[in-house]
Amino acid sequence: MLKILVLGSAAGGGYPQWNCNCETCSGVRTGRIQSIPRTQSSIAVSSDGLNWLLVNASPDIGQQLREQPLLQPARSLRDTGITAVMLMDSQIDHTTGLLSLREHNTRLPLYCTQMVHNDLTSGFPVLNMLEHYCGVDWHKIEIDESWFTVPGIEGLEFKPLVIDSKAPPYSPHRHDPHPGDNIAITIRDSGTGKSVFYSPGLGGLQQKTRDVMHSVDCLLVDGTTWTNDEMQTRGVGSKLASEMGHLAQSGPGGMIEEIKDLSCRKILIHINNTNPILDPNSQQAKTLAAEDIEIAEDGMQIDL
Ligand code: MLT
Ligand code: MN
Ligand code: ZN
Repeated sequence: MLKILVLGSAAGGGYPQWNCNCETCSGVRTGRIQSIPRTQSSIAVSSDGLNWLLVNASPDIGQQLREQPLLQPARSLRDTGITAVMLMDSQIDHTTGLLSLREHNTRLPLYCTQMVHNDLTSGFPVLNMLEHYCGVDWHKIEIDESWFTVPGIEGLEFKPLVIDSKAPPYSPHRHDPHPGDNIAITIRDSGTGKSVFYSPGLGGLQQKTRDVMHSVDCLLVDGTTWTNDEMQTRGVGSKLASEMGHLAQSGPGGMIEEIKDLSCRKILIHINNTNPILDPNSQQAKTLAAEDIEIAEDGMQIDL
């Protein structure tokens, strides 16, 4: 069985964000809206329920692991259920959790592309830093989009997809995109054939992306913003979602239009704290429910 644990369902900053008093952040903080807080973007996947692949390492990983007993099986004095780590990109919200894994008692197996490895040894040299602690064993994810396996994560197969999104603001090539800056991943149980497509940062859909999304049993896809200009209309920033590598949900060509007719399970993840869907009583949340599109929550478990 393909088991997916949602460790963090919010975008960078989390929900509520520490310094934000936008409608949703202040609403959840004061209890004005019936909404639940969320930590920053990460999932874990397993087939046997014992050996887990951590996909993205959130700055909130300490809290996420404390709240997820499945990832702390306590088989020995120093132990973890995390067998390996895989990264979709080198964004801060997906990589800073690596620093919190430094006590790992062997070198940490790490799967990412060449471009992500470049960022993590230059603009944000966390992998160099970790050499003074546990160190990592880097396994390059090739961008040829073929299936591969991860030793220790038995029964699951992985297929990367090069997608349109953005390298992080700190990256030396933020404005000079390269294939492999961002990937999405299809995860398939080799026994049952069931699969999930995970893409927390999806700037736009090429036909090959649509083809993959039409072939899986579950989508866990970019739910960052409702509108492209949400940061502006909420008064918290000037960047468009598209400038940050995210496809907004509403409107022509938006994520809802892209996925609403698919018969698989459809879940939005990596939700920015400004997104009105965080309020379950909002019109926007009701629109999603009417289209059978779910909103991820921390702690959510999906068994396929
Ligand atoms: C993003 O998804 O655009 C980034 O994670 C934002 C951030 O971390 O600042
Ligand atoms: Mn992010
Ligand atoms: Zn906010």
